[in-house]
Amino acid sequence: MIASSEPDRYVVIGNPIAHSKSPSIHASFAMQTVQHIDYQRLLAPLDGFADCVQAFRSAGGKGANVTVPFKLEAFALATQLTPRALAAGAVNTLKFDGEEIIGDNTDGQGLVADIVQNAGIVLKAKRILLLGAGGAARGAILPLLEQHPAELIIANRSLVRAQELVALAHQYNPDAASNSRVQAVPFADAAGIFDVIINATSASLQDDLPPVPAGVFASHTLAYDMMYGAQPTTFLRYAAGQGTQTRDGLGMLVEQAAAAFQLWRGVQPETQKILADLRMALAVSAPAPVSTTAPEPT
Ligand code: ATR
Repeated sequence: MIASSEPDRYVVIGNPIAHSKSPSIHASFAMQTVQHIDYQRLLAPLDGFADCVQAFRSAGGKGANVTVPFKLEAFALATQLTPRALAAGAVNTLKFDGEEIIGDNTDGQGLVADIVQNAGIVLKAKRILLLGAGGAARGAILPLLEQHPAELIIANRSLVRAQELVALAHQYNPDAASNSRVQAVPFADAAGIFDVIINATSASLQDDLPPVPAGVFASHTLAYDMMYGAQPTTFLRYAAGQGTQTRDGLGMLVEQAAAAFQLWRGVQPETQKILADLRMALAVSAPAPVSTTAPEPT
């Protein structure tokens, strides 16, 4: 780092964007790894995402995180897509490299890192139940399969959407998808005890509970909600009532940011301190549940 040079510039682009925790997360990573960067929020007009990105890029910007409602437009704008972005059908991280706009999706990696590294739970040979088949679930399937679980069962109200995710798993990682049992089921057909149950539905935003059968929980089960808030989500409260371990999506938020930082800067930041700081700040703020994969660039 040369202190007198201009910092490399990054932004998180969304609409709205004022709430985003990404600038403080990336500032913390930059300080810790001694990277000379500047990271700001950028509010793009709802009909002006591509112009906003191109203007930032022309002005020397190096990369961007992308959040609601622009992840699909970011996917369309990228000139190169990583396999996990292709499988997710959405992009949350852009890297500008000469003429190329590289589009990646670090949400699923963030989820897996939070479960495996932060919670210390091995996913290999485990039974995983993924609740939901929207954008949040879609972003998670490839990174989950790369852990080689015994089974990845996707339960959704609309069965056809869950079946689409199974097809995507086979399309983008046929080896992993055939080595694990990947199956779509209606909620009522999710049977047996699962080691990890991940709520990727948006039900928590309405304080709602996905209709998961009680018989899938055991005391060793990790119940994970991609949402986070000052209070446990409805799903985590329900799961705790079944005697399981619980974890919300705050760690996923931090870990997806760490993966983006790594992609841009080539160094892996340590995440525990910022995660603890955010947890403390959240405890005093008391907001309603927030989606890890929606309002944040995640
Ligand atoms: P996101 O990008 O946050 O995943 P989405 O693409 O709109 O948002 O998907 C929302 C997911 O939450 C879907 O899986 C949806 O189920 P359907 O596909 O059957 O609609 C699920 N969902 C939302 N509210 C729910 C509820 N109250 N109970 C169960 N599932 C719910």
